[in-house]
Amino acid sequence: MLDSIGYDSNIFGKKVIENACGDGNILREIVRRYIKDGLKNKYSLGEIKEGLENDIYGAEIDKVHYWNCISNLNSLVSNYGISNVSWNILNLDILKHSFNFQFDYVIGNPPYISYNDLDSETRLFLKNNFTSCEKGKFDYYYAFIEKSINMLDVNGKLIYLVPNNFFKNVSAKNLRELVVPFLTDVYDYTTHKLFKNVLTSSSIICLNKSTDIEKFNYHDVTKKRKYVFNKNHLFEKWIFSSKANSKEITNNHSVRFGDYFQSSVSIATLYNKAFVIKDYYVTEEYAFVNEYKIEKEILKNAYSPNSLRLEKNELIIFPYFYDEFNNLKRYPPEDFIERFPYCVEYLKQFKEQLLERDSDVSSQWYEFGRSQALQHLNQPKLLLSTLVTKHIKIYELDTSSIPYSGIYIVPKKDTSLHIAKKILNSEDFHNYILNVGINVNGNSIRISSTDINNYMFNPDLHPELLPTGNVKTC
Ligand SMILES: C[S@@+](CC[C@H](N)C(=O)[O-])C[C@H]1O[C@@H](n2cnc3c(N)ncnc32)[C@H](O)[C@@H]1O
Repeated sequence: MLDSIGYDSNIFGKKVIENACGDGNILREIVRRYIKDGLKNKYSLGEIKEGLENDIYGAEIDKVHYWNCISNLNSLVSNYGISNVSWNILNLDILKHSFNFQFDYVIGNPPYISYNDLDSETRLFLKNNFTSCEKGKFDYYYAFIEKSINMLDVNGKLIYLVPNNFFKNVSAKNLRELVVPFLTDVYDYTTHKLFKNVLTSSSIICLNKSTDIEKFNYHDVTKKRKYVFNKNHLFEKWIFSSKANSKEITNNHSVRFGDYFQSSVSIATLYNKAFVIKDYYVTEEYAFVNEYKIEKEILKNAYSPNSLRLEKNELIIFPYFYDEFNNLKRYPPEDFIERFPYCVEYLKQFKEQLLERDSDVSSQWYEFGRSQALQHLNQPKLLLSTLVTKHIKIYELDTSSIPYSGIYIVPKKDTSLHIAKKILNSEDFHNYILNVGINVNGNSIRISSTDINNYMFNPDLHPELLPTGNVKTC
């Protein structure tokens, strides 16, 4: 990382910060290089010590890491005969701190914390103080990138190790817009796993505050290839493929998958433990689960890509019904309690957790947290996982089955699901998701229902399709 932004020579007297420095792994190398450059330029040890005190900064919120960092730096400089450095390592929350000067270099490996794992106070603070966190389910590291850009001097350079979901996450759109004018290099580890516990693959971004140039370098680290791309080709998502935006490939791709089929996220109970029944046996009227029984009328077959792969039979409590026009209907609470007393008794053991869900305002405690996905469910559908490893596995579900995980696809009007399956199994679709999907875990790609709906394909390859004019939008 330090080599990539030229933090190697002529660095004496330049201000640098690692703003989430942990035990100082990167800072140690920074200090080593700083001393080496000072010695090369014939500065005395006293001058180098002063330089370290003026130019090297770190920030770390955690007390233990902070002290480890100082101790690690002290032990490093002692090898050069330098001692008693009054380090500018700060034990504070860098996102709430301001300096009255700018930095020549910001270097780091910020903390990654997903929106769901952030407490409500931090979410609010980030939302109110960072453009990158204004919308959607932002990650904690977005604020670090934004903060770092603002800490840079007019000629300053930044290098950051970030998850590569940054390129494509819908929530990172504002962040990408902030970053793109200064972007000089992207090092993408695509399928290469740098860290054991981190799901998404890693990438390194380099920014230069003084450049607002049209092109940037894209390094595919796994394939050891470098490409020069035009920033004009970075649209909503950053797709690093010379083909992705070229006219020649999109010419015949005039039809959108979402005009013929509706791809959606599966139902969200927000507490599957209460609704999905994994171990049970059934009689004519009831399903028996431990010491409880549940009316069979309120149960449906439940599926996830995982349960289908493992051929598990699961049930789900489905506290709704469809009328003769296929409209989703809710039971009035008194009716529900009267008609399904055993089910209510069963659900009551989870009542506390069910009430704690961040549910739709109108949801009853015994209903799913979200009901939006239920509207179009009562028809044959396809189910696939959001994670694709090698092949796309597509399952067919019947009308009454309920998908509780993954992405489900239903036709719009009379289009056969058989065609959807054929399109999704095509090589062209596979290449498409390699471009738009997010690399996860080193060997899988995460795709979203929006990615599927936005897929453009060549209708000549599927003559069975009606023209879109005949298709009703769900
Ligand atoms: C991914 S670690 C990186 C550590 C170090 N850069 C390295 O590469 O070894 C992120 C560090 O940021 C610290 N951190 C988290 N939030 C912070 C904040 N708001 N301000 C400063 N440090 C923070 C964490 O305690 C953790 O040590």
